[in-house]
Amino acid sequence: MVSQPLVEVVDVIKSFKDVKAVNGLSFSVREGQFLALLGPNGAGKTTMVEMIEGIQFPDKGDIIIDGKTWHNHEEEIHRIIGLSLQETRFTDKLNVRETLSLFASFYGLGRDRVEEVINLVNLDEKRKSYVVNLSGGQRQRLALGIALLNNPKILLLDEPTTGLDPTARREVWSILKKLKKEANTSLILTTHYMEEAEQLCDYIIIIDHGKILKEGTLDQLLITERGKKILEFTLKEEGIKPEAFPDNNSFNVQWDMDKQKGNLELIKFESQLPKFLNYLHTCGLTLENMEIRKLSLDDLFIDLTGRHIHENE
Ligand SMILES: Nc1ncnc2c1ncn2[C@@H]1O[C@H](COP(=O)(O)OP(=O)(O)OP(=O)(O)O)[C@@H](O)[C@H]1O
Ligand SMILES: [Mg+2]
Repeated sequence: MVSQPLVEVVDVIKSFKDVKAVNGLSFSVREGQFLALLGPNGAGKTTMVEMIEGIQFPDKGDIIIDGKTWHNHEEEIHRIIGLSLQETRFTDKLNVRETLSLFASFYGLGRDRVEEVINLVNLDEKRKSYVVNLSGGQRQRLALGIALLNNPKILLLDEPTTGLDPTARREVWSILKKLKKEANTSLILTTHYMEEAEQLCDYIIIIDHGKILKEGTLDQLLITERGKKILEFTLKEEGIKPEAFPDNNSFNVQWDMDKQKGNLELIKFESQLPKFLNYLHTCGLTLENMEIRKLSLDDLFIDLTGRHIHENE
């Protein structure tokens, strides 16, 4: 039997003056499903999740959570969702345990749950640290802990790892992966990070300008491109310009002058690789380094929009 979706978003539109922040989004999330809303700055991600969280309201369309709407069932919905905003402000005068206890008291939860959550988000050693003294990663884990206090059926996380270094990011991922295994929580996560969506989510919706560009499981999104590989390379020579790569029917080299890095798509790398090395040789260029990797969501995003998901990449 197919279960009812926990969250259903139907043709939602939300504008700010002349900006259509969310322009007709529809999607649903089932129990236990981890969904990513992936998109660049200004895509409409925060606006969309804040409407699910009941912080903003749609101009048009419906949002149904566990069969209910914010309009009719505010209290019931609050009981089943946990959320962490894009920027969370804490009281610097409280320590980790006191902060969690304060939030726990809003839900009428006791000390046991606070202890469980401290454990879950790996903040045991920091339980007595003032929030002001936490690292960025620890603050994010505290925000995640607050979101998890009431054992939510639906967890909403708005860019939970933006600004974190790779190690801190992985710590957040491992907590979420554990949650996926052990609890029946559903997750709606917004992110700029392709890898985050790939690592955590069963279903990915790529949005830009408030609209869906493409959606599906990771496999579905990459299936049309299956088999394609990307070759990235650097050269020994310095100050190379794109003109250094004359037109060639087999290779369409994209050369990034700032980074002095090139890439190209390979369909059959076994036969194309020797030809490419030969081509470089005839261009009078010497390979320094190369890497062949599978097509990623970022490559797909570039195909869809012509740009990287991070403007500075
Ligand atoms: N309160 C507001 N007033 C006016 N415009 C707004 C408001 N909130 C959002 N917008 C605009 O709506 C669009 C979507 O913004 P939103 O914050 O939802 O994007 P986002 O995908 O979360 O971006 P980011 O990745 O930078 O967090 C942007 O063009 C933004 O400038
Ligand atoms: Mg945002």
